Formats: sequence, C-alpha cells, structure tokens
Amino acid sequence: MESDAPVFNPFDPEVRANPYPHYVRLRQFPPLKLPMVSALLVSRYDDVERVLTDSDLFSNHRPQNTPFRQLDLTAGAATMLGADPPVHTRLRQLVSRDFTPRRVSAMAPRIRQVAGELLDRVEAGGAFELMADFANELPVLVIAEMLGIPTERHREFKAWSNTIVASSAVPPYMPRPPEAIEATAALRDYLAGEIERRRHSPGADLISALIASQAAEVLTPGELLAFLILLLMAGNETTTNLIGNGMLALLRHPDQLARLRREPPLMESAIEEMLRFDSPVQGAIRLARRRTEIGGVEIEPGTLVVVMLAAANRDPSHFARPDEFDIARDPNEHLAFGRGIHFCLGAQLARLEGSIAFSAMLERFPNLALADASVRPGYRGSLFLRGLSALPLSI
Ligand code: HEM
Repeated sequence: MESDAPVFNPFDPEVRANPYPHYVRLRQFPPLKLPMVSALLVSRYDDVERVLTDSDLFSNHRPQNTPFRQLDLTAGAATMLGADPPVHTRLRQLVSRDFTPRRVSAMAPRIRQVAGELLDRVEAGGAFELMADFANELPVLVIAEMLGIPTERHREFKAWSNTIVASSAVPPYMPRPPEAIEATAALRDYLAGEIERRRHSPGADLISALIASQAAEVLTPGELLAFLILLLMAGNETTTNLIGNGMLALLRHPDQLARLRREPPLMESAIEEMLRFDSPVQGAIRLARRRTEIGGVEIEPGTLVVVMLAAANRDPSHFARPDEFDIARDPNEHLAFGRGIHFCLGAQLARLEGSIAFSAMLERFPNLALADASVRPGYRGSLFLRGLSALPLSI
C-alpha cells in the first residue's frame, strides 16, 4: 500500500544515530523515489551492485546544477571519482602503480611507527579519546607522508580536510558555509605551492612522481592538483571512521573482541566485518544516462541514483545473520569499497592502516573498554560518511 512506503530523511538526527532499522524498511520496498528531487534511493544488494557495475548506463559525472552536487574543490578539473571512461581510465592508470599491494605494504613499517607514537602519547596522558587522539590523526599522517608534506603542516591539513568534508552535511539547497569555502581555497593554495616546490627539487614522494607523469603530458596541472585534493578527501575521514566505527563494534561485542585477542590471525577478516557492519561510506551517487528500470521502478535519463552501500551490506539475501557482528564471517562480499571501475583506489592502504591500528591498540591496552557504556555516542555531520564525533575509552 502506498501509505506504507517508507519515508527516508538522511538529515534527520534520529536516522543518523542509527540508520540500520530504516534500511530494513527501505529494502522491503522497491527503490524509493525521493520527493522534490529527481532521485531514486536504491538499497537492495543486487540493485546496488548492478548500478555500480554498469558504468555505461550510470555515470559518475554530475553537472554542478543537480541536487546532491559534487563539491567543487578542484576548480572544474576532472577527478577520477567524478569522471567516466575514457577520462577515468587515463587518470586511474596514472596513479594505480602507486597503490599496488606491493607499494602499499612497503609503507607498513612507517605506519606502525606513526601509530606507535600516537599511542605513546595516549599512554603517557592516561586518558584515551579514540577519535581525537588516534583515529583522526593516523590517516592524515599517512597520506601526508605519502605526499611528502612536512610534519609541521599535518595538523593544518587535517583541519582543512575536516571542514570541507563536514560541509557535505549541508542540504543541497543551502549555500556552502563560508568556512568551507575558505578551507578549500587555503588547501588548494597550499598544494599548488607544494607542487611548485617539487618542480624545482623533486623527492621520492607521490607528488614528485606525479609531476614526472605531468611532464609526459598525461596529467594537466589542474588534474594533478585535483587528484591530490581527491586523495586527501577520499582517504582521511573514511579511514578515520573505519577505526572509530570498528572499535565501537568490537567494544559492544565483547565475545568478538576476546576472540580477536585470542586469535590475532583473524585481524584481516575482522577488518572486513567492520567495513560491512558499520560502513564508513554509507552511500554513493550515479546519474542515469538513458531510460531504464531498477528493481521494477522506471527511471528517466538524468535521474540521480543514490545507492546505499551500507543498506546493501546488511541485505539478508547476501549475508546470513546480517545484523550480527562476526569477525570470522566468510564469505563477506561487502560493498563498502564500492564495486566496478570506481572500486576504492585506496582499499589496500585502508585495510593495512586498519589492521595496524587495531593490532597496535589491542597489544598496547589489554583492558580497553568504553569509558561509559550508557552514553549514546554522537555522530558527525557529513551526509554519506558515517563516523563518531568522539569515543572516550578507559585503558
Ligand atoms: C576505510 C576506508 C575507505 C573506504 C570505506 C573507502 C570507500 C570508497 C568507496 C565506496 C569508493 C567508491 C565511490 C563510488 O563508487 O562512487 C571509493 C573510491 C575511491 N577511494 Fe576510497 N575508501 C577508503 C579509503 C581510501 C584511501 C585510504 C584512499 C587513498 C589514499 C582512497 C582513495 C579513493 C579514490 C581515489 C577513489 C576513487 C576511485 C575511482 O573513481 O576510480 N580511499 N572509496
């Protein structure tokens, strides 16, 4: 019956606090047409997967005048995430070699060292607020290292990135907050300066490697800057939220935490389960290029298709006991990193950071627990990123 169709408002604080019961309702109905905007909300696993893998029918390129606009951080230059083939193919090929499993695993010793230093500080201070003391810090330090950004600028970097990402929580019909516009300009200026510096004195970092590609005229100066901004945006808060959401899941499931402590080789599969169970990226957007249907609902060309990855990741048709947190789950074909040609470029890096982070925390603190299990944790504002604003722990 029409009146039974679910209502879904991702900006509602109650939905943000716990979206999962809402996803159950969404999956029970055909894809939902969102009122006011020409958009369709897709939440079943098979439908989400179909949209993500059919990049010919569902485009990643969105004109700026659509609702759910893309943040214009890149002064109009293409990024791989906002591009379709052949531009996407060219941009992705250029950087793929820097994200191969071999290249990424070579970063492990340095990531371990950075994680260890952050935990030294926590231990010395005696109190542990997971987000501020660790989860917010580690990913930005890792990317900044990769890019060769000097340590003294790391903090500023994170602040810009946070401000910009937080502005995606503003509903699409509202103007972007002035602090986000300022942060975007500051980040862009700073990176342009770093690129200039590397032109004269190249190093062993990713920016220098990309300038070399640019010299071969495959990457325009605007595209280079746009890629660096994309890396910062795509790789920071996402990994931060894997650490925060994953820790909350572990501490709320003490049997799973105890098992992970007893059986450290389960770490890899535990990280996959954290990604599935409380996905750092809850949704993604595509634009239908031609008339088609999804789950029996007809859609017109130009319709925005919002795919809820986190709803698909709890779909009982693909996961046995989907609401259970099981660190040994197998198989676990979650969609937390997307699927198809835009599958997360940084997935290996995120997995490595996650497993180093959790191993380091569990080893260091044998009695880790929530500081106050009766307090309902608060969530940050961004629309498709799900992450805690704070998580006080007792050590
Ligand atoms: C737990 C952490 C992470 C999660 C959950 C995550 C999730 C995702 C998802 C869902 C997509 C696909 C979006 C779409 O199809 O519209 C994506 C794409 C991407 N991610 Fe990640 N990501 C994470 C970490 C990282 C890191 C560490 C980096 C880089 C250092 C990174 C770089 C990228 C890039 C460049 C793309 C675009 C790829 C393309 O368009 O071909 N991500 N990520």
